[in-house]
Amino acid sequence: MVEPVVTALGHAGLCVEAQGVRLLLDPWVSRSGAFLGSWFPFPDNEHLPGPWLAGADLVVVSHEHLDHLDLDFLARLPAQVPIVVPRYPSTIIERRLAAAGRRHVIVLDAWERLRFGRDGWLTVIPEQCPMSHDAAVLVSVDGYSVLHTNDARISLAQTRRAMTEVGGPPSLMAVQMSGASWHPVCYDYPPDALAEVSERKRLAKFRAVTRLVRSVKPTLVLPYAGPPCFLDPALFELNARLHGPGIFPDQHEALAWLRERLPHQRSAYLLPGDAVRLGAGGIRRDPYWSSFDLDDTVEERRRYLQAYAERRRAAIDAVWAANPPPAADSGLGEAFRAHLESLATLSSYFLARIGLLVRFRVLGAAGGTWDAHLGPDSVRVDLDGGQGPADYEITVDARWLAGVVSGRTRWEELLLSLRISARREPDIYNDYLVGLLKHADLAALRAVEAFEAARDPKDTFLLEHDGRMLEVGRYCPHNGEDLTETGVVMDGKMHCLGHNFEFDLATGECRNARCDPLPVREVDPSYSCMSASPTTNSPVSTT
Ligand code: FES
Repeated sequence: MVEPVVTALGHAGLCVEAQGVRLLLDPWVSRSGAFLGSWFPFPDNEHLPGPWLAGADLVVVSHEHLDHLDLDFLARLPAQVPIVVPRYPSTIIERRLAAAGRRHVIVLDAWERLRFGRDGWLTVIPEQCPMSHDAAVLVSVDGYSVLHTNDARISLAQTRRAMTEVGGPPSLMAVQMSGASWHPVCYDYPPDALAEVSERKRLAKFRAVTRLVRSVKPTLVLPYAGPPCFLDPALFELNARLHGPGIFPDQHEALAWLRERLPHQRSAYLLPGDAVRLGAGGIRRDPYWSSFDLDDTVEERRRYLQAYAERRRAAIDAVWAANPPPAADSGLGEAFRAHLESLATLSSYFLARIGLLVRFRVLGAAGGTWDAHLGPDSVRVDLDGGQGPADYEITVDARWLAGVVSGRTRWEELLLSLRISARREPDIYNDYLVGLLKHADLAALRAVEAFEAARDPKDTFLLEHDGRMLEVGRYCPHNGEDLTETGVVMDGKMHCLGHNFEFDLATGECRNARCDPLPVREVDPSYSCMSASPTTNSPVSTT
């Protein structure tokens, strides 16, 4: 029997070949980049052979982000190649694939198996909370398995089930360790604060992945899916390494972290075209990279990226040309108001939890200062805004906002493009605002509401902290992570490694995001017979 071979496609893309079947997982290979020409794979993967990619038998797309859903590439694949996607509350991926001409789309439910070859199968593992439409992909073939986690923050319980499904730790586990967010890089922080927030986010991401890998113990762990690189001159300085550590660590930095924390865990990174044979585990390096080194100097990194940017200049120019500045009399303000007001009325549940004055400073002839009063019980957009303080401010050029208002660009594409700047006061993340904008879909918003309504606040555990015995809600009020596994107590707060929300252990209040409080109450130290069920005494790490 010939063992399966996994080839890196760059970014989060993997190719699994076994039993004469070629599967592509999240291939992102077209030259146009993603998110309004902002993101490109790092390093460049344009040398991957087109006919080899086009000869795929099956493609799996884990979620709708355009660094995973490469519509240009998918549109060019032969019509008979099925595209497999997870079932999410919204059908946005299916609609986008249909618009790109893909007719053969297979929608998989969580844990549902799709069979291929003699005895291979794959399944999808969506995040537990429908606020995020992300899913890991699990592939099993010839007694080997690949856990492709990509952007999904799957829980320890989900990884345990994945191991049960494949009969043990996966042969290869690919983990994303780079950030993928407009926070904090687009925020108006003083340099010191920006460095401090970036470091905090970077470490939180590293720690969460480390914890997952430590519990799974795959045969081989592979940091991937980033960082992206930014080739537009307007964004170039955000690139990894150019200005010290940030939220976009590269594969080399991620690997160094894992090796230091998990010295007995076998780990490697693969550059595009590098391949690993599962089982024997030998890595075949693509000779294309013989003179390339991720552990390069800042000057070498800069030179590599400058040459890469030159090769993508036409693609970036095309994005700017496709988004011309709207004229002063284009009616952008009125269209924006209608767009936002209709969006905000999709869900009174979200609106009540947003409760913010969001000020849009829109640059260009068609722009202005527009205040969106979003919630708690009504919505109003004032095109003569700018008076008094705002909770949140977003500055954006009219050319990019016009794409959102016309439906050409989705809100999350604009935000992930990093072609905005923002500030908020207080500095608190509002998941409902981002959720409303990124989903803009009734079914998706209703699914979040139903998920949150189903949480059981009576499920608790005991925590000894600072000489007191606390009864604490077991599941994170954000996305329901089990805090006995993903909670870390630090500085009097419960830090959930799921998405770094912090809950004050004195009051239960969330300190860095708009979120329901964590149930916390002090109990008698001799309290041992809890009425809540099930109650666990699982220790929570205290650092
Ligand atoms: S599940 Fe998101 S912060 Fe806890």
